Amino acid sequence: MNDNIHILTHPLLQHKLTILRNQNTSTKDFRELVSEIAMLMTYEATRDLPLEDVEVTTPVATGTFKTICGKKLAIVPILRAGLGMVDGVLKMIPAARVGHIGLYRDPETLEPVKYYCKMPADIAERDVIIVDPMLATGGSASAAITFMKEYGCKHIKLMDVLAAPEGIARIEREHPDVEVYVAGLDDHLNSHGYIVPGLGDAGDRIFGTK
Ligand code: PRP
Ligand code: URA
Repeated sequence: MNDNIHILTHPLLQHKLTILRNQNTSTKDFRELVSEIAMLMTYEATRDLPLEDVEVTTPVATGTFKTICGKKLAIVPILRAGLGMVDGVLKMIPAARVGHIGLYRDPETLEPVKYYCKMPADIAERDVIIVDPMLATGGSASAAITFMKEYGCKHIKLMDVLAAPEGIARIEREHPDVEVYVAGLDDHLNSHGYIVPGLGDAGDRIFGTK
């Protein structure tokens, strides 16, 4: 695994992910947990944000302190399950813009099909964090990354709650420049392209559609 793949092991992430996996977790709790996990993952995925000095006068004295440089960021959820992560990321980076990519996996071929796209006008100048709870075959994430590169984006990160080794390998192969952050790496994919043991269909569990 190359240095761009980050498996996050914070105890809070592992604990919350275990609750997500449980088939008895309610839609309400599942949705809240995905948002909380996204917030915690953002903390890790933004460790390299550049800082600059700023002078501030406190009630006691004036000093020079650190602030984040005017970095332009965009969060790009892959519809629909990626929507569940947007709130959590925005809690950490409230000024980020949000672009949307609609992709669904064809259940027969497992290949992604694009059905929607709306990006901020200046997307090419922004650092991008693509969010989606599941990295299974990697087809959806790889297509989304290619798409953002076609828009001219140069710095792209991918944040997934749970990954399969097959998905990680595909992103390493097709987009070795992209940093990937996952809170769990599972064993394998089953014949339907589901992560095993996984957590089921993330979109259905977030939106209560099954
Ligand atoms: C899920 C998930 C990813 C994709 C991952 O979306 O949210 O986008 O599958 O699988 P892959 O790595 O094999 O491409 P799904 O197609 O179920 O659509 P949904 O978000 O609308 O439920
Ligand atoms: N998409 C999901 O929602 N779950 C999986 O296990 C694989 C793809």
